[in-house]
Amino acid sequence: MSPFLVTRTLPEDATDAALRADVLHGLTRTPKTLPPKWFYDALGSELFEKITALPEYYPTRAEREILVARAPEIAAATGARTLVELGSGSSEKTKHLLDALAALHTYVPVDVSESALRQAGEALAVERPSLDVHALIADFTGGLTLPDTPGPRLVAFLGGTLGNLLPAERASFLASVRSLLSPGDALLLGTDLVKDESVLVAAYDDAAGVTAAFNKNVLSVVNRELGADFDPDGFSHVARWNAEEEWIEMRLRALAAVTVKIPALDIAVEFAEGEEMRTEVSAKFREAGVRAELAATGLELTHWWTDAEGRFALSLSTAR
Ligand code: SAH
Ligand code: AVI
Repeated sequence: MSPFLVTRTLPEDATDAALRADVLHGLTRTPKTLPPKWFYDALGSELFEKITALPEYYPTRAEREILVARAPEIAAATGARTLVELGSGSSEKTKHLLDALAALHTYVPVDVSESALRQAGEALAVERPSLDVHALIADFTGGLTLPDTPGPRLVAFLGGTLGNLLPAERASFLASVRSLLSPGDALLLGTDLVKDESVLVAAYDDAAGVTAAFNKNVLSVVNRELGADFDPDGFSHVARWNAEEEWIEMRLRALAAVTVKIPALDIAVEFAEGEEMRTEVSAKFREAGVRAELAATGLELTHWWTDAEGRFALSLSTAR
């Protein structure tokens, strides 16, 4: 069996402190917000995997289609010996890349979800005995220090997760990714594209209610970690297209006026009937915008591939 190493880059009390700070900041302002990274405890990661198989949720299938078609080109263009994947989750789609990258020595999946990392890493260690897998439990927005592994390095950020960052967060995130790249390294970026509102809203408000459960799971995380008394049934799932910002917003709407106690923060938070708390944005992109955001951080887009229906794009960029 190949080596499988897991490194926690942030101590657990730092993660706890970050959750407290985010909840305190997000729930004591108007409108209320929570950052999406707190969706992904073990149940949240499982629910996300269920989302990827839903008939309405096209991004995973569209991105897989591109990866299957383009993996040999990606391998030829990068010659990567180390693949770093940010927000790797189950690493399911990544297998197409791992198959094609003939020179690959080390895979470094990076995620806040320990359960997803361990499950994916343990399976890979068995399936790919010659590959070194060094998983990092880390926040990819927090300034990463990567293990010393052979170059060239390919950094992959798939699934459209870039769209879950707000524009200012995206700029500093891309700058930190740029700082991980040496000459000859590359970034492989998955971005969901602007399309018809009805298709987008359905993808984030599926008939089976899996996305609603995923959205409400953040309340259970805050209950468990901070002793809060949110009643997830007291909130409804909202998915709305914001045409000006070109992003889907997920929100939780209070069905009735309620006061939620959060003992770990020593606060009580009031929700009015119908008040909505934003839990995620999922920005949708256009080629020119992606090119410009990359250029602004010193990255040059060299390849742009979409699925046959033009729903999703994968791009390759190099450091200028
Ligand atoms: N790349 C996979 C998973 C996407 S889901 C795919 O394309 O299907 C988003 C993943 O990013 C989750 O596994 C989640 O735990 C992780 N994630 C979200 N915010 C993060 C952060 N700030 N730092 C590290 N991982 C994060
Ligand atoms: C991980 N990320 C790209 C997903 C998205 O589509 O924005 C998270 C998600 N939220 C609701 N459904 C899926």
